[in-house]
Amino acid sequence: MSAALEILNRPTVLGKLALSNRFVMAPMTRKRSPGGVPTAANAAYYRRRAEGGVGLIITEGALIGHPSASHEDDVPRLTPGAAEEGWRLVTGEVHAAGGRIAAQIWHLGGERRPAETAWTPDRLDDQQIRELLIAYAESARTAARAGFDAVEIHAAHGYLLDEFLWPRTNHRADRFGGSPERRAAFPAEVIRAVRAAIPADMPLIVRFSQFKERDHAARIADTPDELGAILGVFAAAGADVLHASQRRFWEPAFVGDPANLAAWAKRLTGLPVITVGSVGVPRLPVDDLGADLVALGRVLLGNPDWVRLATSGRMREIRPYTKADEDLYY
Ligand SMILES: Cc1cc2nc3c(=O)[nH]c(=O)nc-3n(C[C@H](O)[C@H](O)[C@H](O)COP(=O)(O)O)c2cc1C
Repeated sequence: MSAALEILNRPTVLGKLALSNRFVMAPMTRKRSPGGVPTAANAAYYRRRAEGGVGLIITEGALIGHPSASHEDDVPRLTPGAAEEGWRLVTGEVHAAGGRIAAQIWHLGGERRPAETAWTPDRLDDQQIRELLIAYAESARTAARAGFDAVEIHAAHGYLLDEFLWPRTNHRADRFGGSPERRAAFPAEVIRAVRAAIPADMPLIVRFSQFKERDHAARIADTPDELGAILGVFAAAGADVLHASQRRFWEPAFVGDPANLAAWAKRLTGLPVITVGSVGVPRLPVDDLGADLVALGRVLLGNPDWVRLATSGRMREIRPYTKADEDLYY
């Protein structure tokens, strides 16, 4: 086993949350929850990843209870009632396997279809902003009641909160637009609302990215100073952990320094950081990761037990990822 895998396989803590190792399952939308309600099949899917050695699972994006959040019917919701019951099943199965699980809280923003129905930064008035904050808080409370160990706010990839961070989708002239600090102000209000809705010792993770799903070259911060301004606002609002979403973990975030986005986040804030991006597809981290935890996405689709195999010298039993793995569900 490489030194990096050996270190990642050691137990750790996030605040008061004890984890059996530093491997995280990255959030992956699977669209297998009809009517937005998590099923027994969803619970079994997550349980298998816990049994396979993942220390912390982050669920697929789960929608806040607001009609603007999404047009998708089979993406799970994080709302009281049937969806909450479904999530209780999921968290129960993961805990029974010794795992820990965080709910990823999601609003699609401008990616909602049809596009005319989408709520985007430039369109929102004060009343709509208040409605969204209430819905985020309600989802966070639901997550805590449903047995989640942590929550992750999805502020990456070009969805609502990231649209606030990105100058190309935020032209607001009020306190939510302009400088990096001001573009971070609405995501920060969401962080504050979620923080106030969950137990004080429950870790609050914030996921952010430079790239957008539709624009891989996009950036929310052109310089480390700009990134520091945004992440400083997140930290002050109550973020405990930062999850730096990158497409390839080995790529530098800024010219002139080899540090990736996760390493910069750690350097700029001192907070614990999760790195991610093509780990095992096919590269493995070999030495200092510049991060506390590492998330795995696609390799876990076809290999629920990737962590066990990789940390017990059974690399050869791992199926290499192919696009067809995205159709698998077990
Ligand atoms: C099928 C699929 C669905 C995804 N859904 C989400 C999601 O709901 N939320 C999110 O933040 N990222 C999502 N992602 C991105 C992953 O969390 C992860 O960052 C990405 O796959 C890169 O990691 P990997 O190279 O280990 O797969 C998704 C990725 C895939 C492949």
